[in-house]
Amino acid sequence: MASEKNNVTLEKIVSLCKRRGFVFPTADMYGGLNGVYDFGPLGYAMKQNIKKMWTKQLSLVDHDIVMIDGAILGHHAMWSASGHVDSFSDPMVDCLICKKRYRADEINLEKACVHCGNHSWTEARQFKLMFETQIGAMSDAASTGYLRPETAQSIFVNFKNVLGSSRVKIPFGIGQIGKAFRNEITPKQFLFRMREFEQMELEFFCKPEESDSFFDFWKSERYLFYKQLGLDMERIRFRDHAENELAHYSKKCTDVEYEFPFGWKELEGIAHRGSFDLQQHIDHAKKDLSVFEEATRQSYVPHVVETSVGVDRLFLTLLFDAYREDTVDGESRTLLRLHPAIAPVQAAVLPLVKKLDTEAHKIIKHLKKHGYAVQYDASGSIGKRYRRQDEIGTPVCFTVDFETAEDGKVTARNRDTLEQVRIPIDELDHYLQVLMAA
Ligand code: GAP
Repeated sequence: MASEKNNVTLEKIVSLCKRRGFVFPTADMYGGLNGVYDFGPLGYAMKQNIKKMWTKQLSLVDHDIVMIDGAILGHHAMWSASGHVDSFSDPMVDCLICKKRYRADEINLEKACVHCGNHSWTEARQFKLMFETQIGAMSDAASTGYLRPETAQSIFVNFKNVLGSSRVKIPFGIGQIGKAFRNEITPKQFLFRMREFEQMELEFFCKPEESDSFFDFWKSERYLFYKQLGLDMERIRFRDHAENELAHYSKKCTDVEYEFPFGWKELEGIAHRGSFDLQQHIDHAKKDLSVFEEATRQSYVPHVVETSVGVDRLFLTLLFDAYREDTVDGESRTLLRLHPAIAPVQAAVLPLVKKLDTEAHKIIKHLKKHGYAVQYDASGSIGKRYRRQDEIGTPVCFTVDFETAEDGKVTARNRDTLEQVRIPIDELDHYLQVLMAA
């Protein structure tokens, strides 16, 4: 085993993603769409695993958490009440010479345009980030709707529906995983800032007087989540927002930040939203969203602690964090040291020679029956096959050799330690279980 380096760059991740079928630019053959991507077979599998881990962690807390799947197309009135119709926008400026567009809060307007070197800007103006559409076939009767820019609002408007139908009591949470859309002025850094992306959001409803302690509770839960994912915790920090940084609806906010090659950036937001969202819908829809407490015989509008992370942004973070280059037996290799429960393929089965195919397929069938994502690879030298698997993060390869038929064992080769051990075939399931739970 030789030295290991994390020489990761955005370009290397983009290229690996395309080469190995994690992520493709959407409609690639037509030139793509800026800020929109398609996930290939490995990307799909890895995303599913991320979502599974997120949901699993929520299911383990000592409070009720239920999930919903709200609509993507949103009611005009709902997005007005939330404040998005009027104020979900970013300041935009254009270079008057080359016409390149920037977010005004991301550049120094005292300086020249980095694209053309001239110094001539338009006035900053607000650019609306929601995608607007017409709902209904008759153009005159159609109403304006929006593609949701966050999943949170469908949780707020369903708060009473869930409370009245699900036998949950305050404090409890409603979680949601789903697509969100923002017409970002400058989509950039691959999956970091996209126009179509997925969010995993939790809105946790509690009594006002308990909201501060639940805010702290969720901060520590989220810390544990990132630790369990196997991220390098030296690259994770929790940054509390200063008073002047807080959104108008937020009482407190903490960004979970990751140190990307392009700097410390937000990965997740944890916000104490008070009763703002429910109160807005109470005021606009004229519906009662308060809850009645038997013990005190009083009604109150619950407070909300939100945790919100982008699936795609976390996907990108995990790739950056897992990427390594090293040298094994004089040959260089690229590997993704992904947590085994996140890796898109959990095990590869490699027959040493074609003749051992039947045995290899029997093992694959057995492991698939137990729910593992398994890949078969019989082409090229065993070293080449190991490297192909290392590059997509497969934590273990099982090699079927001439002794397998005699001793009922395969050689398990570990991606990270390169250790090789013989394991009985009927213990492979257990072996993988232990690996995934680590
Ligand atoms: N409901 C609160 C909310 O949506 P946000 O900070 O705008 O808050 C939450 O978004 C998370 O969603 C971010 O921390 C990020 O992980 C992800 N996210 C936001 N905009 C994104 C974009 N354009 N592309 C990819 N992920 C994005």
